[in-house]
Amino acid sequence: MASSYVLFMLSLCLASTTKFALGGNFYTDFNILFGDNRANIQDGGSNMSLAMDKSSGSGIATKNEYLFGRFDMQMKLIPDNSAGTVTTFYLSSQGPNHDEIDLEFLGNLSGDPHILSTNYYANGTGGREIQFYLWFDPTQDFHTYSIDWNPQRIIILVDNIPIRVMHNRENIGVPFPTSQPMKVYATLWDGDFWATRGGKVKIDWSKAPFIAGFRNFNANACIAGPEGSSCMGFNGGRNKGLDAQIRKHLKEIHSRWVVYDYCRDFIRFAHGFPSECRKNKHT
Ligand SMILES: *[C@@H]1O[C@H](CO)[C@@H](O)[C@H](O)[C@H]1NC(C)=O
Ligand SMILES: *[C@@H]1O[C@H](CO)[C@@H](O)[C@H](O)[C@H]1NC(C)=O
Ligand SMILES: *[C@@H]1O[C@H](CO)[C@@H](O)[C@H](O)[C@H]1NC(C)=O
Repeated sequence: MASSYVLFMLSLCLASTTKFALGGNFYTDFNILFGDNRANIQDGGSNMSLAMDKSSGSGIATKNEYLFGRFDMQMKLIPDNSAGTVTTFYLSSQGPNHDEIDLEFLGNLSGDPHILSTNYYANGTGGREIQFYLWFDPTQDFHTYSIDWNPQRIIILVDNIPIRVMHNRENIGVPFPTSQPMKVYATLWDGDFWATRGGKVKIDWSKAPFIAGFRNFNANACIAGPEGSSCMGFNGGRNKGLDAQIRKHLKEIHSRWVVYDYCRDFIRFAHGFPSECRKNKHT
């Protein structure tokens, strides 16, 4: 599979002026977004840490914008008491009607579980949260978190296991990220007004600085230039339906690890669920 994927991308590359990114490096591919040297790139750009103290969090963003592709990041979350902190890996375009694909890790008190909150915005509208507990302690080791984005669907993966699929439902009038190029972001910030037990547990600043580790960023993605429309043919060679294996994984994950699913929030949507919730939800 891997080799046919590479061949597929090479053939597209040769056939057009479209540029593809393969691999990734924190020095060459990213700029520091905020927090100055609290974003600490090391090891020739293969690893990076983000720190937060009382005066600031930190974050980085790619120089390039991408339109479709697969993005992998290995992350090791803040150990011990990380309540109130939010560590993120996400894609976002700019502007009022922006698109965004989010992985946000909500910290917790020592020994209590972090939550991985996933969401996406299309044409400026978000509010599509599905939140998960993880089946491992994400502060002990690096794990790989991935966003696989093509015009048909977005798949979020943890250690290569698909946990969420967002289908393109433009055919029933639901906007989907298909035209706005996005940058890749990694950030660490103070979210204690909502992150931990709905905002009840605040950051203990005596434990600062809080530090999260990142390494082995990888983008197999189409770099959107002025000729960004040439990314339209890019679908990563995966323009097929979901296979049985992926459906099986999703079913298992959703039966065991989901903390919150907007498509099951009967209080919030007492007057009717969003259209995409009515079609086969997450598989
Ligand atoms: C990151 O790179 C630095 C410098 O080479 C090294 O000391 C550190 O152990 C690395 N961290 C990880 C998590 O690989
Ligand atoms: C995007 O939102 C704007 C309003 O903010 C609306 O006018 C436009 O039709 C929307 N586009 C799509 C594709 O839904
Ligand atoms: C933190 O731990 C509490 C208690 O186990 C749990 O209810 C909550 O979901 C955990 N995660 C967050 C981010 O609040």
